[in-house]
Amino acid sequence: MAEIIFVAEAMERALALLEGGDVVAIPTETVYGLAGDATNGIGVARIFEAKGRPRFNPLIAHVADMAMAERIALFDPLSRKLAETFWPGPLTLVLPQRPGNGIHPLVTAGLDTIALRMPRGFGGDLIARLGRPLAAPSANSSGRISATTAQAVFGDLGGRIRLVVDGGATPVGLESTIVKIEGSRVRLLRPGGIAVGEIELALGKTLLRGAAAGIEAPGMLASHYAPGAAVRLNAHAVDLGEALLAFGSRRAAGWEHAVALSNLSESGDLREAASNLFAYMQDLDRSGASTIAVEPIPFEGLGEAINDRLSRAAAPRDNIVSET
Ligand code: TXA
Ligand code: MG
Repeated sequence: MAEIIFVAEAMERALALLEGGDVVAIPTETVYGLAGDATNGIGVARIFEAKGRPRFNPLIAHVADMAMAERIALFDPLSRKLAETFWPGPLTLVLPQRPGNGIHPLVTAGLDTIALRMPRGFGGDLIARLGRPLAAPSANSSGRISATTAQAVFGDLGGRIRLVVDGGATPVGLESTIVKIEGSRVRLLRPGGIAVGEIELALGKTLLRGAAAGIEAPGMLASHYAPGAAVRLNAHAVDLGEALLAFGSRRAAGWEHAVALSNLSESGDLREAASNLFAYMQDLDRSGASTIAVEPIPFEGLGEAINDRLSRAAAPRDNIVSET
């Protein structure tokens, strides 16, 4: 079983495991990540194994600073501007790889691009101490909701890994926004912890949307982030036997009969809602309800990413091809 160690005491143990080609679950500002040394094929393979990821999808390489980022990928003025504005933080940039960067090909699934992110807090400190980038997908087993607490990681992966570093609940609560640089344009691959509007403001132009060719990010597949219970969106009334995931101050009709009720944000704050989303879905799932009814959530700001995750959780389950 995994040990859980608080961030303040975890550094040396985490470093020793990573140096030995093992994986460690770490807090980031978005969600918990299952980290391995991105230059070590054994470490990277262990990530896929622990998650039970059905096929090798590319991982995000996490860096400590710009110098490390520039050794791995090729930046241009546009990507440098995004990095300067949003790093460290919940933005992932898909960039051309710098040849000979030492990143194990399993990280990028053989692509000539690489997804890069500079996380805040313990993750950044750990990467700086290790001196090498960390590959890290969300620390959840395949097809499950991303973990936003050390306890959620432990409950899911505790039997398969040796260390969970406990940094408390992750502040953002949603995975990073992923964008790909395509010449003079930038394409949104996955909405996430930074609202699209903020990125467009920094760039002074709108983002391209939709995959350029086929599925580029498995997070774009329809069924994803699936809890055990069925999920019903835009609920204006609660049906018999349902749990209710609420938002704001006005309740869906019949709310008092809900098997369980959690409110993402009483005050209607989308940041607060994002940070509560995965933990509350797990709570409601544990209530034993057959279905989680979800009240309407506005699409503005972080509401886009919240609705994205909810619609994947609600999608039919028979088309699970893969997940992140
Ligand atoms: O907030 C986050 O992004 C968290 C924390 C741990 O950093 N990580 C995370 O990783 O959500 P993961 O593996 O669950 O999702 C990464 C996504 C996947 O959908 C993957 O397909 C996509 O990034 N991706 C990685 N490399 C790519 C590339 N070269 N081109 C396009 N998509 C890529
Ligand atoms: Mg994931």
